[in-house]
Amino acid sequence: MSKKPLPDISRKIDDLTSLEALALHDELAEHIAYHNQRYHGDDDPEITDGEFDILTRTLAALEEAFPETASAQSPSQLVGTAPSSGFGKITHNLPMLSLSNAFDDEDVYEFIARVKRFLSLEETAPLALTAEPKIDGLSLSLRYENGQLKTAATRGDGAVGEDVTANIMVIDSIPKSLKALPDSPMPPIFEVRGELYMDKADFLALNERQEARGDKLFANPRNAAAGSLRQKDATVTARRPLKFFAYSAGQIEGQSWQTHSDFLQSLTDYGFSVNPLTATCHVAEDVLAHYQKIGTERARLDYDIDGVVYKVDDHDYQRRLGQVSRAPRWAIAHKFPAEKATTIIEDIDIQVGRTGALTPVARLRPVNVGGVIVSNATLHNEDEIIRKDIRIGDHVVLQRAGDVIPQIIETIVKDRPADSRPYEFPTICPICQSEAIRPDGEVVRRCTGGFACDAQSVEQLKHFVSRNAFDIEGLGSKQIELFFELGWLARPADIFKLIDRAHEIAGLDRMGEKSAANLVAAINERRIIELERVIYGLGIRQIGQATAKLLAQHYESLPALMKAAQDAQDEASTAYHDLVNIDQIGDGVAADIISFFADERNQQAVLDLLEEITPITPEKPASDSVVTGKTIVFTGTLMTSSRAEAKAQAERLGAKVAGSVSSKTDFVVVGADAGSKAKKAQSLGVPILSEEEWQKLVQIEDA
Ligand code: IVH
Repeated sequence: MSKKPLPDISRKIDDLTSLEALALHDELAEHIAYHNQRYHGDDDPEITDGEFDILTRTLAALEEAFPETASAQSPSQLVGTAPSSGFGKITHNLPMLSLSNAFDDEDVYEFIARVKRFLSLEETAPLALTAEPKIDGLSLSLRYENGQLKTAATRGDGAVGEDVTANIMVIDSIPKSLKALPDSPMPPIFEVRGELYMDKADFLALNERQEARGDKLFANPRNAAAGSLRQKDATVTARRPLKFFAYSAGQIEGQSWQTHSDFLQSLTDYGFSVNPLTATCHVAEDVLAHYQKIGTERARLDYDIDGVVYKVDDHDYQRRLGQVSRAPRWAIAHKFPAEKATTIIEDIDIQVGRTGALTPVARLRPVNVGGVIVSNATLHNEDEIIRKDIRIGDHVVLQRAGDVIPQIIETIVKDRPADSRPYEFPTICPICQSEAIRPDGEVVRRCTGGFACDAQSVEQLKHFVSRNAFDIEGLGSKQIELFFELGWLARPADIFKLIDRAHEIAGLDRMGEKSAANLVAAINERRIIELERVIYGLGIRQIGQATAKLLAQHYESLPALMKAAQDAQDEASTAYHDLVNIDQIGDGVAADIISFFADERNQQAVLDLLEEITPITPEKPASDSVVTGKTIVFTGTLMTSSRAEAKAQAERLGAKVAGSVSSKTDFVVVGADAGSKAKKAQSLGVPILSEEEWQKLVQIEDA
């Protein structure tokens, strides 16, 4: 999905009519849900934390001005996102709360005054508060029964999280049992909450490894931690350097504390890491001084923090203060402003991607932005350079907001040197000198060189061996670049000819006989491979894994797909109709498939590849089952099969499995403890099947 444009929130809220307010509320709610999913669900945020804060603050202001817009579904009532489907669920005994934010000193004074008013304390009375760094990771709830770690859950939507016990059990830095304390009995139930995170240095090293293997890069340590935790295979999690700071309590039986500071001391005694920069303060000035202190140390810390959390220290006060809409009244997060720095654009380079897209990259005079030395920043595209009026030699303001990838936010026009040069975007590819064209209405200019362009060829080869395509172990980006430079590789088929060079490969720097033999074995292992991986690996524009799968199921072989695509050049042909009739393939995608196979060099590359490999045709979904083409939603706990198995069965029968119930759902299969989805199905009149009914149906159809 392309970046979601943010709604227009420039108009003053007070100027809106009630109807406009409702419309804006819907729009904001949709954006917040989307960005929540990108951040928590996909670990792949699209906007900065600051931009996200603007959305949620606007929503809060809107709900305050127009109370009729607030509803139970409003994102202001939710924390994070619903748990994703790959893991089991754990219902939190006590909800995992979120925190309200303070953005400046005044917000902090106001917080303290509010607390005192609520507790009927004198305005000038001292009030003990702890101030501790706000760790930028993901929160976890760990449950110990009689001192033994039993379960671990993510926050999820605050009420229900994902069961990540198996993955947490392999993380060394998390105690599997509580240390016995000399003077107190082991509490029967002890739920501790805290933040799982990854050190900045470990994150950079992980990304280097990811890059070398051609795997997805993580945008920041937070996403790296989340991605590392949410692994189906816990042995992968075990290899990732994850750490944990404990900072709050869930359900606890058999022990209590007077203050939060005492509780933190017990956490240390039980064997948890508690952040060493935690302090207890008594007046607002001390709190703010501690904020400043942490702020100056921030860049030197091993891990990312995005603010300081203040908590009323006294537990009795905490209990009296309670919570308001999913956030405690007794705590607040004082956020740091996004980290900024100014530097100079020394040059602008063009990078050519797999599909020929020309991306401008600013080469910067290296500058320290919040502890990270930055020397490049993407300028996205031609229009962006014009919009920000960026010239070579310009002084610019850079920002790193949570994300490690920095953005140029503005040019300082008043400091513009007389010899600054406007940038002329190239109309020929800087790598292969082919024409680079930008079709009307598109923002991206592309090199037309295809395989004749070295940059595209190399990027294409990297894509070909990437995890979701051929996934050849030991053949990552670095090796592809090297072999390409040596002239050993140009097209995908050449990868399979590398086996004849085992000896030469063994002689390369840091290789040797064993690595070369392993590589040969890994290559040979992939000669028999699922057709959908091959189609995806070809790198046709707009063809992701899902579309590749559809094409594989529909055409069943590469020659058939190629022939169909060639016949489909005539839009009046049956081949064309056949192609666009495949679910999710529209005219645009069809045009990309057709133009790929119309190119003789691509045809030859495919034929050469077929000399080396044997694609496996996917099982064809039954076309005459009663569920063919139907949309099914599974909900609740299934007893006879796992959710994944039920999904696979349904897909084998030609059904689509969706995650949420809508009027387009054909039926809902309900397992034990089904919740809101079953209710929604009922209210929409969508037919409901019990698990038993579903099993009967599958057995008949699958027979
Ligand atoms: S206390 C009831 N303390 O920030 C209080 N949260 O924006 C619950 N976080 O969900 C949270 N460092 O994931 C607390 N020292 C800290 C924290 C912290 C990071 C996270 C946590 C929370 C989020 C709220």
